[in-house]
Amino acid sequence: MSGGFARGFENVKAETPPCELPVTGSLPDWLHGALLRTGPGVFSLASESYRHWFDGLAMLHRFGFRAGRPGSIGYTSRFLRSPDHERSTATGRVSYDGFATVPRRGPIDRLRTLIDPARQFGRNGMVNVQRLGPRSYIAMTENPLAMEFDPDDLSTLGPFDYQDSWSGAMDMITTAHAQADLSRRALYNFVARLDPLNPRYIVNRIDEGSRGRVVVGEVPTDAIAYMHGFGMTERYIILVEYPLVTTPAALFLMPLTGRTYIENYAWKPERGARFRVIDKRDGSNVGAWETDAFFAFHHVNAREVGDELHVDLSVYADGVDILGQFYLDRLRSPSGGTIAWSGLERFRLPLRGDRPVRRERICDAMFEMPQINSARCSAGAYRYAYGVSYTAPGRFVDALVKIDVERGDSRSWHEDGCHPGEPVFVPRPGGADEDDGVNLSVVFDSRAGASFLLVLDSASFTERARVALPHAIPFMLHGQFDPGGAA
Ligand SMILES: [Fe+2]
Repeated sequence: MSGGFARGFENVKAETPPCELPVTGSLPDWLHGALLRTGPGVFSLASESYRHWFDGLAMLHRFGFRAGRPGSIGYTSRFLRSPDHERSTATGRVSYDGFATVPRRGPIDRLRTLIDPARQFGRNGMVNVQRLGPRSYIAMTENPLAMEFDPDDLSTLGPFDYQDSWSGAMDMITTAHAQADLSRRALYNFVARLDPLNPRYIVNRIDEGSRGRVVVGEVPTDAIAYMHGFGMTERYIILVEYPLVTTPAALFLMPLTGRTYIENYAWKPERGARFRVIDKRDGSNVGAWETDAFFAFHHVNAREVGDELHVDLSVYADGVDILGQFYLDRLRSPSGGTIAWSGLERFRLPLRGDRPVRRERICDAMFEMPQINSARCSAGAYRYAYGVSYTAPGRFVDALVKIDVERGDSRSWHEDGCHPGEPVFVPRPGGADEDDGVNLSVVFDSRAGASFLLVLDSASFTERARVALPHAIPFMLHGQFDPGGAA
């Protein structure tokens, strides 16, 4: 192993029972609730190993804060007891399809898997957690087969299945970045329908209190694009078909071909990137716009401005091996651990007339894992975006950044040897300013071989507090702040 960050891609040996951890510095006295995060916890099994960062078996983490008790926080971690975790750890072998790892299957098993998604996907919810209701949370990956867990003690409650009729083999692609529409009290997402004769994206909605998806509208396509998320305004849903594409047949036949999920996709820059917009009110296709090829994992924000749609994304340049950089042998190698540059860019789509899409760089800082004050700014005007960054091109993430979207400049936090994760923004209740709050980031300290929770004052973007954790936590993907939970 070389490169201090490589320790951030090793197994967590044990769960952490609920414990109290002392705070260094000063937590705000209003901070109350729990940061819930998910990410990989197991990369190597007894006999086999996973190949990609996005394949590790899920582990949940909970950081609990109590208003008025700034001296300590509660912490616990638990493995998500999904069918994948239970079977793979029991057998020591890869048991279900992941992002870039597949199990070894015999001919009979391949045929059975072809018609039964439950045999193919093991509900490894290591990408994101999602709040469905006041005390209802699921852990998600990029298919609709989720797991429900208790947000207070992280115990796994069991498989979560949407109470609707479309979780068959042709509906196994969705995103782990469902978007909450606070005014409608609903969650929006989409599914890629792998129908060879009529491939399309089905935008759907779940109303709060319901567990069934309602069709909002459909977007026909000629290829299935890898989309990790989507954009949303008050009125519109924005899908961006990056030219990283596959066919319904290739995905549907994965059990027979033995190809890993992401290896079915090919980069075809000649297609360009295609913005597809539908109206949330009636599902109508509002329009389609094309630009030069690019790729993004994450939408930052989208809003309606006059006769334009502004779609802000964390954008990678054409031709970058974005997904290849996250194979574990590269991340752990002496020459690996590099992250391609991505930056905050805005695309202006004309809702009237035939003007071309205008594309502009908002800030030159490397920017990923975006966060905004979504309770206040989602689908509307915003000024500040927070994310991970690096201090020099080609490094692994080693900084946090706050971008002033209006001015185009940024502030950053950096400490030698430290590699921070997504800085979840928590607003101060009743705060007047958009950046009145804190950012919570789990940081891997390669010098200490351990992780700590960093609390930044969002306005000044300086450290308020940190909490040393009892062990190293592998680099996680995403999480949410649960205001209803406390330590
Ligand atoms: Fe993501």
